[in-house]
Amino acid sequence: MHAKIRPAVPDDIDAILAILKPYAREGLILERTADDIREVLSSFLVAEVAGSVAGTVSYHDYGRHLKEIRSLAVRKGISRRRIGSLLALNLIGSLQKSAANPKIFVLTYSPGFFRKLGFVEAPKESLPEKIWKDCDHCKNRDNCGETALVYRGLLGEVNYEKINR
Ligand SMILES: CC(C)(COP(=O)(O)OP(=O)(O)OC[C@H]1O[C@@H](n2cnc3c(N)ncnc32)[C@H](O)[C@@H]1OP(=O)(O)O)[C@@H](O)C(=O)NCCC(=O)NCCS
Repeated sequence: MHAKIRPAVPDDIDAILAILKPYAREGLILERTADDIREVLSSFLVAEVAGSVAGTVSYHDYGRHLKEIRSLAVRKGISRRRIGSLLALNLIGSLQKSAANPKIFVLTYSPGFFRKLGFVEAPKESLPEKIWKDCDHCKNRDNCGETALVYRGLLGEVNYEKINR
């Protein structure tokens, strides 16, 4: 299955919402609205498979040196085909080009997936306070099962060949 990773365009918003919605309902990722996505559309990448959007990822910018991976999801039914890895590593590659040594982190219920990509667990306290603003509205805020991980690199570099098989 060949996936083409490209920046999202306004016509992708409905497809992005459709991919995110079931996972948001399950509480795996943060809910997004069309307006919210439109506002930060330039932070979204999509994976296109056979002409349709099969996955997406975005990031939140906390300044030059701190970026959070958000809204990573692959359409239900086509998981475990490297699309998630390809999206995440493309995003990481472009964030690394945009700033010298940015700290790239994720808060997730799927730590195993991110470990395989070169992330390592980080104590939540090691991340700055400003990242917790979304937690105020979360129903799980007093009992958060998310794991914080920081990108340490796949042998130091993003290796797209290794994962696009
Ligand atoms: C997590 C997600 C993006 C992974 O995408 P994917 O395309 O299925 O993953 P890949 O095929 O690239 O998987 C790469 C490796 O990670 C493993 N993996 C995939 N999902 C995993 C998970 N949830 N937990 C542990 N390992 C996982 C795969 O088995 C594969 O391992 P291998 O290299 O030993 O074969 C996808 O399952 C998804 O959309 N999940 C729901 C939303 C979500 O939880 N997003 C993350 C929130 S930040």
